[in-house]
Amino acid sequence: MTDTARVDTLALAMTLATAGFGLLALWALRRRRPLAPRRLRVMAVAWVVAAVLVLASFALGSYLVARGAPHAEPAIEIDVVARQWMWKVQHPEGRRELNELHLPLGYPVRLRMSSEDVPHALSIPALRVKKFMFVGRETALELKTQQKGQFVLYCAARCGPHNRAMRGTVVVMDLREYLQWARGEVPGESPLEAGRRLYLNLKCENCHRPDGAGRGPALAGLIGRTVTLREGTTLTADEDYVLESIREPDAKVVAGYEPVMPSFAGQLSESQLNALLQYLKTLEGGPR
Ligand code: HEC
Repeated sequence: MTDTARVDTLALAMTLATAGFGLLALWALRRRRPLAPRRLRVMAVAWVVAAVLVLASFALGSYLVARGAPHAEPAIEIDVVARQWMWKVQHPEGRRELNELHLPLGYPVRLRMSSEDVPHALSIPALRVKKFMFVGRETALELKTQQKGQFVLYCAARCGPHNRAMRGTVVVMDLREYLQWARGEVPGESPLEAGRRLYLNLKCENCHRPDGAGRGPALAGLIGRTVTLREGTTLTADEDYVLESIREPDAKVVAGYEPVMPSFAGQLSESQLNALLQYLKTLEGGPR
């Protein structure tokens, strides 16, 4: 049984049991004739025992459903941070989003959650889940989606005056689509196009101006060029050097420049690095 179906079955069973108990009580009290004190006592005890049993079954059922089936498979771990009044999400591939939560269909996901200010509670009604989030203490929510589409997420805690604004969208997509999305790839895009898009989005050109007047050297025609490093040594730029320069700019600092380039290690996947490299190779001209 799926998690959603389990919660729904439990809710239905509890509703039916409560209604049945109520109807039974009405039926039992329908008689007007006063009861003998002894019978009255027996009946009172019987009702209390029955009520306790029903409530205990609710508690047990809720516990079993809430515990859920532990996910045996390794899960994709996504960080969710709440603050007044927004949701900040970071995916393992580095992609971030605000007030949206992209999830892969049918693949176990573990949300690692915390809050930056007051207690919040992430609630996704379509998945029948809700979990509190605190400052300085991580809580986790294991999920497995069953259906593609868009669903509402909101904060179910009384987190402040704009609590109602703390809403977002869960977007469930195929695992393959999700992975592409999380890596920032656009379906059908060639590595070269992806490289160009990354180059523009990551604002490489802010420093690497084509005319060489930026804070970093012009990158056109870099491969094969002789590069002089700070220490006075020289090297011939090859693909490995270019990749290293992007991952760890401080490893080899070009003479005449300050080590101000941010490291892109961990932010870019292998395929994204490769795409950037492909694009850099197509840049031509520029001062030598
Ligand atoms: C904040 C400015 C800045 C940004 C943004 C920046 N770089 Fe750099 N980059 C530099 C500087 C300065 C150097 C030279 C010093 C050094 O080697 O660290 C450099 C060096 C390089 C080199 C080696 C160049 C050579 O002539 O040997 C490559 C390749 C490079 N950057 C690629 C990139 C790419 C790709 C991006 C975008 C993903 C990028 N950089 C973003 C400042 C920047």
